[in-house]
Amino acid sequence: MGPFMQHGQHRRTLPRHVAIIMDGNGRWAKRRGLDRIEGHKRGADSVRAVVRAAREMGLQALTLYAFSSQNWERPVEEVRRLMELLRDYLISERDEILQNNIRLSTVGAQDRLPQFVRDPLDALMADAAKNNGITLCLALSYGGREAIVEAAQNFAQAVLQGELRLQDVNELAFSEALSTHVLPPLDLVIRTSGEERLSNFLLWEAAYAELYFTDTLWPDFGRVELGEALSVYASRERRFGQTSEQVRLRAAK
Ligand code: FPP
Repeated sequence: MGPFMQHGQHRRTLPRHVAIIMDGNGRWAKRRGLDRIEGHKRGADSVRAVVRAAREMGLQALTLYAFSSQNWERPVEEVRRLMELLRDYLISERDEILQNNIRLSTVGAQDRLPQFVRDPLDALMADAAKNNGITLCLALSYGGREAIVEAAQNFAQAVLQGELRLQDVNELAFSEALSTHVLPPLDLVIRTSGEERLSNFLLWEAAYAELYFTDTLWPDFGRVELGEALSVYASRERRFGQTSEQVRLRAAK
C-alpha cells in the first residue's frame, strides 16, 4: 500500500485527527504567584473550550495528553489533584458529550487509574459508544514506548504460540494492534508552552504528522489558538517521502 492510499486524500486542508500536548499549566500558575493546581484547573477550562471548538470546526478526532506514564512520578498531592480534576471533568462534561454526539475513547494504562476516575470514565464511554460525531480520545497514564512494547509482546506471544507467522507482523498489523487504530491517521500534533519535543506521545502514530509548536501556555490556549494551528497546517505541504513535484501532480489529478 502506498503512503497516499494509507493517508487518504492527497491534499486536505482540515486535519482529521489532531493530538495536543497540553503543556505549561504549572508556569501559567507560577507567573501569577498561584499554586500549580490552579494552572491545571484553568487547563481543564481550556480542554472544555478546545473540545467544543474542535467539534464545531469539523475535526474527526482529538487526542489529548491528559496524563503521561511519567506523570505518576510527580508529587503525590499533584497527582491526586489531577485525578480529581479528571473526575470532575468527566462528570461536568457528561451532558455536553452525550448531547453533542461526541464519542469518548482512551489510550494508556487505565488499570493504573484510581477507581473514582475509572467509574465515571467507563460509564461515559459506554453511554457515548453509539455516538458518531467527533471522537475525544484521552491519553491517560499513556506512554508511546509502552504502547509499542505492549503490542510487540502480544505479537511475540502469538508467534510463539504458532497463531501468527513472523511475516504477518508488518506495519499494517502493528498499526491495528495499537489502541489508536480506531481513530483516523494522526495529521497534526500541537504542543503548547514553547517546548519542542514529543515526550513519549503517540510515537508510532506521529511518523507522518505535522508538528506545530506555540509559546502560548495551555491555560491561554482556546478556540482562536486552535484556529491558528489549523491554518498553519493548511499551509503546509505533506509529502510522505515524495517530492514536491509528485505531490503537486497528484493533487492536480
Ligand atoms: C502539563 O503542564 C500538563 C499536565 C501534566 C496535565 C494536563 C492536565 C490538564 C490540562 C487538566 C486536566 C485534564 C482534563 C482532560 C480535564 P505542566 O504541569 O507540565 O506545566 P509546566 O511545564 O509549566 O510545569
